[in-house]
Amino acid sequence: MVKIDILVIGTGLAGAIAAITAADNGCKVIVITKTENVISGSTAHAQGGIIYKGLKDSPEKLKKDIIQAGAGNCWEPAVDQLCQKGSNLVEKLLIERFKVDFDRNEYNELELTSEGAHSERRIIHSKDKTGETIQTSVTKELQNHPNIRVLTNHSAFDLLTLSHHSTNLNDIYEKPACFGALVLDNLSGTIFPIYANETILATGGLGQIYQHTTNPKETTGDGIALAWRAGARCFNLQYVQFHPTTLYTERSERFLISEAMRGEGAELIDQNGMQFMNKYHKLGSLAPRDIVARGIHQTMLDNGHPCVYLNISHKNSIWIKDRFPTIYEHCIASGIDITSEPIPVVPAEHYFCGGIGVNLRGRTSLQRLYAVGEVACTGVHGANRLASTSLLENVVWAYYAGLDASKHCRSDSYFPEIYPWIDATEDADPALIAQDWTTIKNTMWNYVGLIRTRGRLLRARTILRHLQTEIEQFYLKAKMTRDVIELRNSVQTAIAVASATYEARVSCGTHFLID
Ligand code: SIN
Repeated sequence: MVKIDILVIGTGLAGAIAAITAADNGCKVIVITKTENVISGSTAHAQGGIIYKGLKDSPEKLKKDIIQAGAGNCWEPAVDQLCQKGSNLVEKLLIERFKVDFDRNEYNELELTSEGAHSERRIIHSKDKTGETIQTSVTKELQNHPNIRVLTNHSAFDLLTLSHHSTNLNDIYEKPACFGALVLDNLSGTIFPIYANETILATGGLGQIYQHTTNPKETTGDGIALAWRAGARCFNLQYVQFHPTTLYTERSERFLISEAMRGEGAELIDQNGMQFMNKYHKLGSLAPRDIVARGIHQTMLDNGHPCVYLNISHKNSIWIKDRFPTIYEHCIASGIDITSEPIPVVPAEHYFCGGIGVNLRGRTSLQRLYAVGEVACTGVHGANRLASTSLLENVVWAYYAGLDASKHCRSDSYFPEIYPWIDATEDADPALIAQDWTTIKNTMWNYVGLIRTRGRLLRARTILRHLQTEIEQFYLKAKMTRDVIELRNSVQTAIAVASATYEARVSCGTHFLID
């Protein structure tokens, strides 16, 4: 039997910092990831940067920007925590402890950049691969920490709860609580429980439920589905953020073209070279993300053109290649030289502003369960996230959740007997899995996308509910694999999002209803 103080599910920045903080406080921690590589999730795909502090900045100025971008729907205590504690934690953890190599100027001062809707240059970065640089440094510590054991290729497919898994019927009268997870070893096919005093979900976003996303393959909305089935409260699920600028190619994958490029002076233009964002907002190309994404969408519709363009070619070409090496290389490989021509761009799903509701310490509504990172809804982002707040939110909430979980980790926690897992025997048909994925992605993209109507949302919910019935039947018969788990989770998460979006009547921020 595997029994541990703290189980962390997910190895992105939030999972890693929560695990390291708890381990520093003497807890024994197991961290699992379903991927082969310990570096997984969206962290490594975050190009732009992380908020630190500007030269004439203050927590109040940052708070104002966050609340304005969030369309006034942010939770103020959470915004205060981020603004008051964020820069100290960046300093203490990322700069001093993990020695992240952020870009510096000739005086060895941290270089500051800007992005949409920021009133100050306050974002630090490592070229255009900030997330990757941070994650590489933090992961080294995660793998070498004496109190941490990392298991790759392990998929959690259910949270263990008193109400669902205990063989003691009277546990139904206890406060709902989580005591670990049921886990599949992807390679051997073995299924086993990991019992944990405290469980921290850090499974990231849900980008893959959309046809076009900047997120990596593993972002299948697992955490929302696990929490939903376990009965934890989720909210703000209607707030899905679309990034305005991803490289437009014929392939369905969407490569991020960082907002930092607009922060450094790139302009959005249409196919005739005309700037169009001033029509939609006084900040033009640097307006809040939801407004820019919709401005692009409308321009594409008005002009009957499949994309708009982002132009940085007026800047010095050596500077461009040095400041945006990843984007330069990626675009060159797609036949576009960003130093001499505009980049064709379209919006794509980028970040989930809603999630599992948590308090200032990352605690969910279920006892002994925490959530951190994109899977959690702290209330910081409200209806639309301000650029470069996500890595900062990861650091702040993961730190406090790790600390809180370590304090609450008791040696006399209750671990009931659970029912044995009996796996099914049929091999899953890959054709069914592929077709179900296509249905989920198309439904979410077309009906629960950038622009919503109640009719489209109702249609989405109907399609997804029907599909879920089919998938549940298939799930009961199929041998457990990572593919089967991800499909089941993704349809559950898609339904949660589509239903919440249908029920959310007020059009606000990223939830844009036209009727
Ligand atoms: C970007 O570089 O544009 C993405 C950064 C973010 O989403 O905060």
